[in-house]
Amino acid sequence: MLAIIGGTGLTQLANLEITHRQVMRTPFGEPSGAVTFGRLRQHEVMFLARHGYGHTIPPHEVNYRANLWALQEQGAMRVVSVASVGGIHADLLPGAILVPDQIIDYTYGRAATYFDGRSRPVTHIDFTHPYDQKLRRQILDAAQLAGETCLDGGVYAATQGPRLETAAEINRLERDGADMVGMTGMPEAALARELGLSYAAIAVVVNHAAGRGDSRNGVRLENINMVAQPAMARVRNILENVVGLDVD
Ligand code: HPA
Repeated sequence: MLAIIGGTGLTQLANLEITHRQVMRTPFGEPSGAVTFGRLRQHEVMFLARHGYGHTIPPHEVNYRANLWALQEQGAMRVVSVASVGGIHADLLPGAILVPDQIIDYTYGRAATYFDGRSRPVTHIDFTHPYDQKLRRQILDAAQLAGETCLDGGVYAATQGPRLETAAEINRLERDGADMVGMTGMPEAALARELGLSYAAIAVVVNHAAGRGDSRNGVRLENINMVAQPAMARVRNILENVVGLDVD
């Protein structure tokens, strides 16, 4: 089954016919909220709001391990993560939607593995290509079917937050090769890989990163909602087309 993890601006799916909600406990604690089950265009999907349904959980306090564990326990095979980001690359203007293909992890202090060496032996997963290539392709195909412009590839920098970055930090991320910056991409992607889930992300640019474009003198949070709302409607449109694409 397809699971969707919604981020800022996507705490629910408008066209989801909800069948039930499941409160879960995992060996790693509680997920961000109940897992919502329903049908999207006749296909069964599950949905989880990463920051909780009332958006109360900051990025560094999300229980990423519990979230992915719960989704897998409920039968998820594919996980599409939706995440808002700041645009670093000059082409990534607010409103752009893309499917990143690489990650640089700047987070710290997060529970980032299931293989802690105690309950499970130390294991080093291959993470050369952090996102599942087939699922990335399905998202891009779905975007085309939906008639939505969606860029293929880009390097996602995962920062710790919850504060936004300084202009100098954004310059450093750019020198490192990052195209966009967000706070939730890791350890989510790595944990999905540890569980053997197919995982890919849809990144929505909701602002210019600090010091860039109209964020030159500061990131204006009040603008983010204005950009996020129509962009998330386009993301829903894409998601409705992902569910129907081959499942195996
Ligand atoms: N920085 C980090 N995370 C973000 C941003 C940003 O500019 N915008 C949305 N999530």
